[in-house]
Amino acid sequence: MKPFSLFFIFWVIVSGTIYISAFTRKDFPEDFVFGAGTAAYQWEGAFDEDGKTHSVWDTTSHCSNGSNGDIACDGYHKYKEDVKLMVQMGLEAFKFSISWPRLIPSGRGAINPKGLLFYKNLIKELRIYGIEPHVTLYHYDLPQCLEDEYKGWMNRKIIEDFTAFADVCFREFGEDVKLWTTINDAPIFAIGAYGQGIQFGHCNFTRNSCTETYVAGHNILLAHASASNLYKLKYKIKQRGSIGFIIYGFGLSPYTNSKDDEIATQRAQVFLYDWMLKPLIFGEYPDEMKRTVGSRLPVFSKEESEKVKGSSDFVGIIHYQTVYATNQPGPSLFPSLNKCFSTDMGVYLMIDGNSASFEVDLNPCGLERDLEYLKLSYNNTPIYILENGLPLKHDSTLQDTPRVEYMQAYIGAVLNAIKNGSDTRGYFVWSMIDLYELLAGYVSTYGLYYVNFSDPGRKRSPKLSSSWYTGFLNGMIDVASQDNIQLQRNLSSSSSL
Ligand SMILES: *[C@@H]1O[C@H](CO)[C@@H](O)[C@H](O)[C@H]1NC(C)=O
Ligand SMILES: *[C@@H]1O[C@H](CO)[C@@H](O)[C@H](O)[C@H]1NC(C)=O
Ligand SMILES: *[C@@H]1O[C@H](CO)[C@@H](O)[C@H](O)[C@H]1NC(C)=O
Ligand SMILES: *[C@@H]1O[C@H](CO)[C@@H](O)[C@H](O)[C@H]1NC(C)=O
Ligand SMILES: *[C@@H]1O[C@H](CO)[C@@H](O)[C@H](O)[C@H]1NC(C)=O
Repeated sequence: MKPFSLFFIFWVIVSGTIYISAFTRKDFPEDFVFGAGTAAYQWEGAFDEDGKTHSVWDTTSHCSNGSNGDIACDGYHKYKEDVKLMVQMGLEAFKFSISWPRLIPSGRGAINPKGLLFYKNLIKELRIYGIEPHVTLYHYDLPQCLEDEYKGWMNRKIIEDFTAFADVCFREFGEDVKLWTTINDAPIFAIGAYGQGIQFGHCNFTRNSCTETYVAGHNILLAHASASNLYKLKYKIKQRGSIGFIIYGFGLSPYTNSKDDEIATQRAQVFLYDWMLKPLIFGEYPDEMKRTVGSRLPVFSKEESEKVKGSSDFVGIIHYQTVYATNQPGPSLFPSLNKCFSTDMGVYLMIDGNSASFEVDLNPCGLERDLEYLKLSYNNTPIYILENGLPLKHDSTLQDTPRVEYMQAYIGAVLNAIKNGSDTRGYFVWSMIDLYELLAGYVSTYGLYYVNFSDPGRKRSPKLSSSWYTGFLNGMIDVASQDNIQLQRNLSSSSSL
């Protein structure tokens, strides 16, 4: 047993509860993958180059004079440099998304050869160095033309267009891509972008419906199922990949130990997890939602239900921090975003502490709870944790010690869940490098690498977290040992900007 590190003592003082036992990369199953991620609009830049048309994000970020992803990290031009950084870090997998309007500028029909080439080159570069590409088909950047033509996910036409887009991706990239996900963070996307959510692709946010969120959610499920079934019929035997769906994991916990808060937590689980997972795994919406939402909740035909059921090989989870559920009115996350949905759910959700002050949530129990919930409620479905990370104020401080502590705590939680039987197969840090954060811009970032967004060359510099991840992935770091302190000393003696 190695002596405990300063970090460990810090944890005990701060939280009084967290116990991080020593572990290394080798404690995880051999085929478990460790990666990091980005998303097209947040990383690529080149927003109107080489035939790409606007997505709804281009429109929304141009509504004001605030920051935008026009250039972002300039990943479109600098992908080789970034793959090199991944190689140096020993990254095993890279999650990125494909920009639909870059690949198919009119939303349907002709493929843009330069867009196609970009993704082929990126995937080839990853493959050369043995980095597994994990491709998300849709990270919210709908071609603006489809929003204008039929309101995007509000219309069933999206199912056919999304499937055709997916078909191009499977056909063109599927030889080298074994891990696919369809729609990023689908429930939050439907809640945040439809009904009373932000109307992406429009500068005037005027729609206000208590039905749209559920209609969008329904079309998302049908589009996912359609793309997934196409993959299974046409590609899977030859390409031998798998395809999953992504939800947000809230790590839901009762705010107090009252019976009421326990019931509130269960109701939140129904609305935030079961809403989409129950159809995907069992073919129907949860009864409690049918009762509460009534005729505003669309109905699956028998045929649709059969298509949706079993259409996900795994569930991707995005998790950042524990969220507390209560019946008591109070400061809340969702009423401000989508009051209708929140009222239907009938639960107040809160983050402990003030997330705006970047307090470190070193309480990874929420993630363990989510993994346990999926294990018990959904037949131990295979899981990939596709986003997990800590935002810190974007400045040139490369000593992101809180992020290192966060990663240690959360990776430790994943190991605990695996030891307790969870079929979790991978963990991806958000984000590989500093990105343009949707809605938040460049104020706070999550990167393992610092990006100087004032520099036309968008210079990248390694943060402490990238050195820590490198050591961990190479099996050199034993968490809860002196290694971390040495790492920090090494970085401070070698780093300069
Ligand atoms: C952006 O700023 C310019 C100059 O101040 C102004 O003329 C323009 O109307 C602004 N555009 C938006 C969308 O706010
Ligand atoms: C926003 O809505 C107002 C009132 O409906 C309208 O006059 C204005 O032109 C709209 N602006 C944009 C950018 O669509
Ligand atoms: C571990 O798994 C068992 C059986 O599924 C479950 O009862 C128990 O609560 C789990 N422990 C934790 C800490 O999640
Ligand atoms: C970022 O780049 C700008 C422009 O090249 C430069 O002036 C500035 O010093 C850089 N900032 C850091 C922290 O390196
Ligand atoms: C720190 O640097 C020393 C000397 O270069 C090296 O031997 C050691 O492995 C490094 N430690 C870590 C954790 O990177």
